[in-house]
Amino acid sequence: LGTASAVGAAGLAVGAAGGAAASAAGRHEPASVTALTTVGTDTVAFHGAHQPGITTPLQARGHLVAFDLAPGAGRKEASALLRRWSASARALMAGEPAAGHDTGVALDAGPSSLTVTFGFGRTFFDRTGLTGRRPSALDPLPPFSSDHLDARRSDGDLWIQVGANDALVAFHALRTLQKDAGAAARVRWQMNGFNRTPGATAHPMTARNLMGQLDGTANPKPSEPDFDRRLFVPPTPTAGPAADSTASEDTAWMAGGSYAVVRRIRMLLDSWEQLSLHHQEQVIGRRKADGAPLTGGTEGTALGLDTVGPDGKLVIPGNAHARISAPEANGGAAMLRRPFSFHDGIGPDGTPDAGLLFVCWQADPLKGFVPVQRKLDRGDALSAYIRHEASGLFAVPGGAREGEYVGQRLLE
Ligand code: HEM
Repeated sequence: LGTASAVGAAGLAVGAAGGAAASAAGRHEPASVTALTTVGTDTVAFHGAHQPGITTPLQARGHLVAFDLAPGAGRKEASALLRRWSASARALMAGEPAAGHDTGVALDAGPSSLTVTFGFGRTFFDRTGLTGRRPSALDPLPPFSSDHLDARRSDGDLWIQVGANDALVAFHALRTLQKDAGAAARVRWQMNGFNRTPGATAHPMTARNLMGQLDGTANPKPSEPDFDRRLFVPPTPTAGPAADSTASEDTAWMAGGSYAVVRRIRMLLDSWEQLSLHHQEQVIGRRKADGAPLTGGTEGTALGLDTVGPDGKLVIPGNAHARISAPEANGGAAMLRRPFSFHDGIGPDGTPDAGLLFVCWQADPLKGFVPVQRKLDRGDALSAYIRHEASGLFAVPGGAREGEYVGQRLLE
């Protein structure tokens, strides 16, 4: 009681000093209080050609959650679920309460750049009688020699990525979506991640991962001419006399969509942190402090892949992670990496259960993740310090148009 009245008194004092204004939502907000930043009020559009949460700048907080349809639930239930989920995502991303059952958790923190992104796993199509419309891009990822995958934390019929610049806003969205699932679907696995808080650095910069490296430097950039082609599925040519409709898949519903590869990658931080700075930089091929290639320049300078030092050796070692994963080494294969870090406490052996919720986006996993991971799997220098523990591949349809729900072009 004491705490409640103290909060009440403080609220009244602000109200009295500044005068209280009734907001559109009917809440009373002090008129003269200036927000510390715009972080809370920033919004991302729900409707558009592509779903949000793909090219949106990294948020400070993320949840990845996979659902399986409940036994007996099929296409009808899935379609109703996507309709409910889309309605909630649209409202919450606009900073409005969820219909019917809002818990109030996000009331004070605006939408905080909330994004909700929906995807379909391979198994979704059999469960809903839509096998004929399953894209071959959803064929299972090949096994890799370094995989230590936990099936219970991998795959799933449906996948949702939640991102927001406030932890309570992200939790609120996750909880709302879980309740929306009702009897139609059950959570299969959930992972929680984070990135740096916006505004914490003196100037905008590439995020650091838990190994301390700038991670995301060489990502495809929207200004590059092939950005859209690399990331998003193009519209299928309309069937007609000229189109070879027998050879083409019935996947027109994926136009504007993208494929997400999700890997929970544990970092073996105890071993990593024992390496000297010099050795750590050799593992990646870039300087730790500023992300510049070991061949010099600044973060944005191209890697000098052929540069040889006075000792006659390559300056960026042959097994450096940045060399092996570079598009030049993979027939142009590229992806947009948009990860969250995770830390799930300390394991029984005393080591942190921490690493990267690696999420990468591409128009075709066979021209993105798969060839690059195949190369890395042959033994890049980073492999000794990481372990892939869970995996998922999801078809993320294009964005919902005004009045549409996500996945409608597949489900109706
Ligand atoms: C580049 C870290 C896993 C693909 C980089 C860079 C770092 C890094 C520090 C250099 C800076 C940058 O361009 O972002 C990590 C860590 C990983 C990991 C810590 C695991 C915990 C992966 C995986 C893939 C991948 C699984 C894909 C299969 C790439 C690509 C680049 C890159 C494509 C850009 C190379 C270029 O164009 O120069 N990574 N990485 N990484 N990584 Fe990773």
